[in-house]
Amino acid sequence: MKQMTRRDRYRLALTSAASALVLVGAGIVATNANAAATTLGAAAAQSGRYFGTAIAAGRLGDSAYTTIAAREFNMVTPENEMKPDATEPQQNQFNFTAGDQIYNWATSHGMRVRGHTLAWHSQQPGWMQSLSGTALRNAMINHIQKVMAHYQGKLAYWDVVNEAFNEDGSRRQSNLQGTGNDWIEVAFRTARAADPSTKLCYNDYNIENWSYAKTQGVYNMVKDFKSRGVPIDCVGLQTHFTGGSSLPSNFQTTLSSFAALGVDVALTEADVTNASTTQYGGLTQACVNVPRCVGITVWGVRDSDSWRSSESPLLFDGSGNKKAAYTSVLNALNSAPPTTPSTPITASPTPSSTPPAGGSARIVGSQSGRCIDVPNVSHNNGTRVQLYDCHGQSNQSWTYTASKQLTVYGNMCLDAAGSGNGAAIQIYSCNGQTNQQWNVNSNGTITGVQSGRCLDVWSTANGAQIQLYSCSGQANQQFKLVS
Ligand code: G3I
Repeated sequence: MKQMTRRDRYRLALTSAASALVLVGAGIVATNANAAATTLGAAAAQSGRYFGTAIAAGRLGDSAYTTIAAREFNMVTPENEMKPDATEPQQNQFNFTAGDQIYNWATSHGMRVRGHTLAWHSQQPGWMQSLSGTALRNAMINHIQKVMAHYQGKLAYWDVVNEAFNEDGSRRQSNLQGTGNDWIEVAFRTARAADPSTKLCYNDYNIENWSYAKTQGVYNMVKDFKSRGVPIDCVGLQTHFTGGSSLPSNFQTTLSSFAALGVDVALTEADVTNASTTQYGGLTQACVNVPRCVGITVWGVRDSDSWRSSESPLLFDGSGNKKAAYTSVLNALNSAPPTTPSTPITASPTPSSTPPAGGSARIVGSQSGRCIDVPNVSHNNGTRVQLYDCHGQSNQSWTYTASKQLTVYGNMCLDAAGSGNGAAIQIYSCNGQTNQQWNVNSNGTITGVQSGRCLDVWSTANGAQIQLYSCSGQANQQFKLVS
């Protein structure tokens, strides 16, 4: 008989807990724990995943575009604005205007951001195209360091290296490859040192078919990196089933095989010729069937926004209407077994018997051992809080009040800048509203009274930002108030 995994046991426990609550709570809990979500982001979040889109800065002034994007998605990839030609147009002169514009738009709508991309043979600025050898290697390292420093602690993932393989599984003969076969691992090591708070991904196209040579080439590289301790956290499968390629029947095998190496996998640039409903449904189902498939990003909002608009490959038509493929994706997301404690549990958190009342306390992340900290002892409204080594000073001293506020410096409150997944947690003048009220629960979570969502952090590093996220029962959502 198949042995039960930790995840199976967790799901079983959740199912039992939910059934028990239904029995004792009949008449009290009105919400159906399995109610189908009605947007892609919300549907994906039920199983702890995200659903994202590529966003182009030049379209942020189009309200039809931003309305759909803000409603449907909870992850954003800048389509071109964080690429080397955009961020370092002249050597060592950086420009983050368009990248920041997208980052600010995304986070102000409660979305997280995937960085794309740091080292790539394409979309290099002219000066980089003409470099080679040591000069190019050093320029690549400097580029990674400076761009990642700018976004330090802000991005959920970074595509560190993009499209470095040929179709036959060998390395692409780019100018970067010409600097030495170790250029990819140097890029990853540089990236880890530059920002330990973000997940580092290798990203490529035509690696969806498990029996394809390119897939095997990338797989062997990731296997080698994991065996030698080269820092890599994720593989992005672009999933462009367009221009003649289509969903392979072994896609799930590819995802689970990469995941078995100990990396997250994600579908990072999905689009499908004429938005075939079976292919869109199938690619979504493959992801939800693989526990370490963390999310799906489509490569644009409407067909008219696509790099291949003549193939109508996206989920919304040029007028912003949902296409049939939208429904097949939504249904597949809604069919995923929930990994999130559902409504009865999150709506009725058990307040801890021991939150220190009155006195000040540190809020310590159980996974990291680090404290919730206001950067630079800032007193400004809107300063996002982060994890940092505990030192007990005023910017890490919180008071849990009788009205469920967590105050710092006496008059500022821990405040949720929204109620959706990924909403920023910041400090703000105390105003008595429910986005500043928190339940400190006996299971180690701290949940927002307004949102029902948990304080969450996706890294254990200094500088990792705290956000709201659906409660998952995982260690990155466990905090202790320690007096
Ligand atoms: O902004 C200029 C505009 O001023 C100029 O007039 C026009 C003339 O060609 O070009 C515009 O820039 C274009 C840019 O998209 C913005 O629309 C570039 O020429 C064009 O090359 C660029 O294409 C992008 C492509 O990457 C470049 O390789 C696509 O938007 C973008 O969707 C695409 O994305 C890639 C991923 O990064 C990696 N995986 C494949 C994927 C699809 O090719």
